[in-house]
This record gives sequence, structure tokens and C-alpha cells, in this order.
Amino acid sequence: MVVDHRSRDTVSMSMSNEKTLLPSSSAPYRVEQSDKESNWFSKNRKSIGVLFGLFLILQHFVISPYLLDFWEENSFKHGHGHGNRKSSCEQAEPIYPKNHNVSSIVEGQKDRIVNWLSGAVRVPTEVYDVMGEIGEDERWDVFYKFSEYLETSFPRVHQHLKRTRVITHALVFEWEGSDPSLKPLLLTGHQDVVPVLPATRALWTHDPFGGEYDGEFIWGRGSSDDKSGVIGILSAIELLLESGDFTPTRSVILAFGCDEETGGKVGASHLGQWIEEKYGKDSIAILVDEGNELEEAWGQLFAAPAVGEKGYMDLELKVETLGGHSSVPPQHTGIGYIALLIAALEKHPHEPHLNVESPLVNYLACGADNSPEFPKHLKKSVYKVEDSLSSKNGKVDRKALKELEDWWIEGSYKDGTLPKGTGRALVGTTQAVDIIDGGLKVNALPENVVAIVNHRISLASSVAELQQQLVDVIYPVAHKLNLEVEAFGKEIQFHECHMHGAKDITGPKAGKVILNVAHNMTLDPAPVSPFTVDSAAWRVLSGTVKGVYATRPEAKSSKEEAEKTIIMAPSISTGNTDTRHYWNLTRNIYRFAYLVEAKKTNHNNIHTIDEHLPANAFVEQVRWFANFIVNVDESRDI
Ligand SMILES: *[C@@H]1O[C@H](CO)[C@@H](O)[C@H](O)[C@H]1NC(C)=O
Ligand SMILES: *[C@@H]1O[C@H](CO)[C@@H](O)[C@H](O)[C@H]1NC(C)=O
Ligand SMILES: *[C@@H]1O[C@H](CO)[C@@H](O)[C@H](O)[C@H]1NC(C)=O
Ligand SMILES: [Zn+2]
Repeated sequence: MVVDHRSRDTVSMSMSNEKTLLPSSSAPYRVEQSDKESNWFSKNRKSIGVLFGLFLILQHFVISPYLLDFWEENSFKHGHGHGNRKSSCEQAEPIYPKNHNVSSIVEGQKDRIVNWLSGAVRVPTEVYDVMGEIGEDERWDVFYKFSEYLETSFPRVHQHLKRTRVITHALVFEWEGSDPSLKPLLLTGHQDVVPVLPATRALWTHDPFGGEYDGEFIWGRGSSDDKSGVIGILSAIELLLESGDFTPTRSVILAFGCDEETGGKVGASHLGQWIEEKYGKDSIAILVDEGNELEEAWGQLFAAPAVGEKGYMDLELKVETLGGHSSVPPQHTGIGYIALLIAALEKHPHEPHLNVESPLVNYLACGADNSPEFPKHLKKSVYKVEDSLSSKNGKVDRKALKELEDWWIEGSYKDGTLPKGTGRALVGTTQAVDIIDGGLKVNALPENVVAIVNHRISLASSVAELQQQLVDVIYPVAHKLNLEVEAFGKEIQFHECHMHGAKDITGPKAGKVILNVAHNMTLDPAPVSPFTVDSAAWRVLSGTVKGVYATRPEAKSSKEEAEKTIIMAPSISTGNTDTRHYWNLTRNIYRFAYLVEAKKTNHNNIHTIDEHLPANAFVEQVRWFANFIVNVDESRDI
């Protein structure tokens, strides 16, 4: 399938576009206050209310623009201080393992942790767009070497966890808990990597499969995407086992795919089925897969796991016309027709739309509450939306919501927060005409002309809606050109598209337009996972992020560092991960990696030359996995 380069960019989008969602900023952190102040505010709410009332009256008479500014600044400053507005970005408390000193297991282990990842990078588990069957196409065989590498590197994991080769190279590890009534934790990742193109090999400053460690970074393909995930999880468990201090009450399941970069058709699809057959639907407490890393936004550090993923469909747009000699041509050839149809598509891009339920509304609420550099006008709109939702009739303030939508579509680009097009892609369905094919000879009319249009479907839409929209745009143009239309397996009649005021044209048709799904694959947008503190899954995820952040090495060495906080906010992914195959297993799916990026390294160069990972960040990721495993184990809420 041609999906390859596309799913490669899929993941790079899921990583890179997602990441660019969080603007980088070098502004200093705000010294944190919120907890204490908000308590003080809630205790003194009544008197504050009276004071504010008096202040309002004064203001009304004094009419001072300065006072007005002062008032707005202060009333919007604190998440919980403003009237009885309920913040939609309430933060969870940090969670620390109660019965185990988990963080101590990584102490003094940096060299081993780095070596584990380096060695994994040295096994070139490349997957290609078109692969034969396992057993026939020998390019799969490198995965045997990778699983042998795992066996020798993580002996305790292999001793205590049951490994199953679900489909030769797709691996499941089960660490059985003592209490079968508790839903298992599922941690997933992928063993495969994007190939290193021979043409780019010379551009690498480090051997892409050398796993070199220069004292600061681990270099090579997969060092970040996603061997850091697979090795991070296994390292955490190996060290937990080695400490002898922890045996799980709740089962822990690991699932490692072998072709995520080409859609998980072989690996994750079988892993998902296997786990569903053995454990059942909705049998998993919480699932964490690769995804968004930590980043700064508006001068504040955020962890913004993707709680949803956009959908996917490639459209095959085909025009069939009669061939013939080009010395006696019709007005339009097939290429002319398809050009007109493509022009129509590009003239009618899909309208972006921000639902009030979208995690992206919440994301802004988190920014408004916590970021010192959050735009003021946007903060007002965010709070208007929140206030309207918690008002008596609960009707959303459409005008304010539209302002948030406009910010994603245009404002985020204009104010320099996001690169052009990124915000729009997050709130809308995108289309990109990526492939065109037609015509062979300059004196022959082309009989078949085909274009492939890539779509990433908005969380607010669906495959079915997209298909109808395409018919609605294509049909009127095709109709005027006297072309028949067949769309997604059925002939379209005149009344079936939403076309007004046009006359039906009779007589022989000039040709036919055929719309089909290309690559035989469609994907609706993923169900959105819970992203508020009402959800136990979100709380344990958030609490672990906050606990691990609060105990990071820098926090011990400086007071300023110790005072910094990390904010949890939901985000979405424009690309897709293996989690598409795991929807039946749990509602609580989070695409997230506790990885602090090295500054200005463009997402660790995943999918391109010089992919790398800062070693210290990786050690922290291992510490995060260990804490998360124990925190989920100790939780009785999920
Ligand atoms: C956990 O262990 C580390 C070092 O091994 C130590 O610094 C820390 O104080 C311990 N924490 C607790 C809560 O015992
Ligand atoms: C498309 O996928 C369906 C189900 O996944 C399968 O039955 C069908 O044979 C596939 N068609 C092609 C052309 O690959
Ligand atoms: C999820 O469950 C539905 C309904 O049983 C089933 O049709 C579908 O194939 C399952 N999805 C996956 C990815 O296994
Ligand atoms: Zn990946």
C-alpha cells in the first residue's frame, strides 16, 4: 500500500503537529501560588464578593479606564477567584507511590538505562510501505533479533512476565496481579521504525543504527520514536523487579506492535483482538501509548496527552472518458475534467468547527488559568464560555466560543503561537491532493485519470459526513460537465446531492466520475478519552505526572526549580497511532510520553535525519513509567 509514506507522516504529524500545538517560549516560569491563593479565595469568597460589588459601583461612577483595566486583570487572574465560575481545567493532586520508594530504583542506573536504549537502536527494525507476509518477506526477520535483544537485556522481565508472540513479531507481556478483580493496566509501544532512506544516509552526523551516546544524547533511528517507549517500559519493570520491592496487585499488560509506522495492520490489529478475546471488551483500566511530550506554552510547562485522534480517509477520484486521437479532441480531456473537479474541491475546503465538548476548548481553559503569557482577550472569551456553561440555563455563549474557534483557525497563527495551518488542522477536516496520475502519450486522449486526496477528519465529523460533503462538492461540477457520478459504490442521482437550482442534463454522458476510498482503509475520529478530574484515569495520569515532576532531580537542587509546576491539559493528535486498534479495550486511552525535550531540537528529529534523545530525559521517562505502574496498582478508583 501507498500508506507508507503517509503513515510515516501520520506519526510525524501525531508527534510533530501535536507538539507544535504547544508553542515554545523561553519566558520564565510564573512562581506558583494557585493552591494557597485559591483556598484563601474560596474561604473569603463572601467578603470578596461584597468588596467587588462596592468596587463595581465605584467604578460605575468613576468611569476610569485605568480602573477598568485593573479590574479585568485581577478578576481574570485566578482560576477560582472569579465569581462562582467553575474552571474546566481543575488540576489533580500529585500522587506518590505509598508503599514503595519507586523513584529510588533509577538512581545510579543511568548507564544501564542508556545502554538498553542504545542497544535497541542498533537493531534496525525498519518497516516498509509494502511488505510481504511474515515468513516470506525476510525483511521481517530482523524482529527476531530484536526480541532476542529484549530477552538478553531484560532477563527479569522475561522470567516474571509471560511473553506471547501473538503474531510472530507482535509481542504481549503479561505480569499477573494478585487480585484478578482489578482491571489491568495496558502499556503499549511499537518496535518498528521508519526506514532510513539510502539517499539521506550520508546526511546523518551519527550512524542511524549505531545507537551512539555522546554523553548527552542517544542518537539513531528509533531513539525517540518509539524505542524510547518500548525500552522505557521494559527498563522500568526490570528495575522494579530487581528492587524486589514490588509485586503487582493489578495485572500489567504490555503490547508491542511491529508495524505502527504502516498502520498496525499486522501487529496492533492482532494484539487488540488477542487482548479483547482474552480479557474482554472494556477490560482495561487505562492505556498509555506513544504520544505528546512535555512542552512549554505561553511561559508555562504543560503535559498535554492526546485524548483523541483525528479520523482518516484517502479519496480516490477517478475520471473515465473515451479515448481517441488528440488531433480531434473534445473540449475537455479526462485531465481537464479532473482539474476542474480538483479546483472545485480546493475552492470548498471543509469548514473548521470547534465543538464546546472539544478537548481543545479545555486546552485553552488550562492555558487561561495557568499561563502568564496567555493572550488577555482570549482569556476573556474562555471564561465567558465557562461562565455560560455553568450558568442557570447552561447554554453556551456562542459568540465567545466562536472567538476560541477563530483563535485556533487564525489567531494562533497571527499571534505567533502556532505555525500557519496547524491550528486550523486541529479543529477541521483537512484535504490534500497528493497524487495524480493520467495520460501516457502526447497524441492519445487519456482514458483514466486518477487523483488521490488525503483527508484527516475532524473530531466533530465522521467518515460518512466527509463522503457526503465530497459528493456535494463534486456532483454539481460533474453534472454541469455532463459526467455521470458514482460515489462510494453507488450511482448518484440528481436529487441525492444537496444541489439547488440546476437543471438535469439529459443525453449521452461525456464520461464518468468515480469516487472511492483509496487504500481500502477509513478511520473515524477516535472516541475522546476523559480529560477532567472527575475521571479516575485522568487523575492517576495527572497525579503521576505532577508527582514525578515535583521529585525531578532539578527540584532537589534549587528552590526556584522546586517551585515550578507542570499543568495537565488535554490535546488531540492529527495523526494516528496503534491505539486505533485498541478502542474496544478501554475508554481511557492516552497518547503521551513523559519526555522533556531538549531545547530547539525539533521534536528530537523523529522520522528524519539525526533522530536523538537526551539521556537525562529518558531516565526520567523510565522513572515516570515505574511511578505510573505503581500508582495505578495502588489506585482503587479505576
Ligand atoms: C526515596 O529514595 C531516595 C534515594 O534512594 C531518597 O532520596 C528519598 O528520600 C526516598 N524517599 C522516601 C519517601 O523515602
Ligand atoms: C478491503 O477490506 C475488506 C475488509 O477489511 C476486505 O474484505 C476486502 O477484501 C479488501 N479489499 C481490497 C480490494 O483489498
Ligand atoms: C470492536 O468491537 C466491535 C463490536 O464487537 C467489532 O466489530 C470490532 O471489530 C472491534 N474492533 C476492533 C478494532 O477489534
Ligand atoms: Zn511512533
